[in-house]
Amino acid sequence: MNIIRVANYEEMSIEAGKLIAEKVRANPSMTLGLATGSTPQGFYQYLVKDHITNGTTYKNIKSINLDEYIGLPASDPNSYHYFMQKNLFDHVDISSKNTHIPNGAATDLDEECVRYENLIKEVGGIDLQILGIGQNSHIGFNEPGTSFHSRTHVVALAKNTLEANARFFAKLEDVPTHALTMGIASILDSKEIFLLASGTAKAKAVAQLFTEGISEDFPASALKQHQKVTIIADEDALKYI
Ligand code: F6R
Repeated sequence: MNIIRVANYEEMSIEAGKLIAEKVRANPSMTLGLATGSTPQGFYQYLVKDHITNGTTYKNIKSINLDEYIGLPASDPNSYHYFMQKNLFDHVDISSKNTHIPNGAATDLDEECVRYENLIKEVGGIDLQILGIGQNSHIGFNEPGTSFHSRTHVVALAKNTLEANARFFAKLEDVPTHALTMGIASILDSKEIFLLASGTAKAKAVAQLFTEGISEDFPASALKQHQKVTIIADEDALKYI
């Protein structure tokens, strides 16, 4: 795993944004695997600014998001559909037919998991997957204990994840308890992976990546089985490294 050490959140966002924009320019019909949450917001801002200033185009880019809450319609401001529209899709020239997010409002969730996994195959796989990391080492919403062979599936969110995500909701009870997520095996199929981490809250999970072996107790440790992973992290997230 290659590590890019940066000073803070802003530098992490600029570094990730620059590298991603370069890849988009080099391969304008690539498939990007995208994440939500606080970590990617800064580099999405970078990509939007770069699109406006430098004209980097997303006309033929395809995107596959990692996950979505179950039970929230796309119009709900806390859904990841809404997040992606507001943070990226509304501001670049990506075509809505090329953007994909699991449908957490599907009536048949098992069927939705199969559809999503097939979709990833149909687009030819993910060229570059961007990941954040949970305080408990989750990637996507693959909580500790998830099989490294898992594909897109329904997950019950861990207590720690519900608490961490409660900041976006009026109260803890409003956080959906379940989500759809790409599995660890789906993530590992990506040709290249960027893992982003910022802040002391992530320091333990990042340190475990280096101090612990490969174990399903630490979902992010699965990344050690991948040939092309770059960690872009700030001093706070790397404080034990
Ligand atoms: C989001 C996702 C999650 C987050 C992780 C960190 O699509 O898959 O794994 O990346 O929970 O969240 P933040 O960035 O809010 O700290």
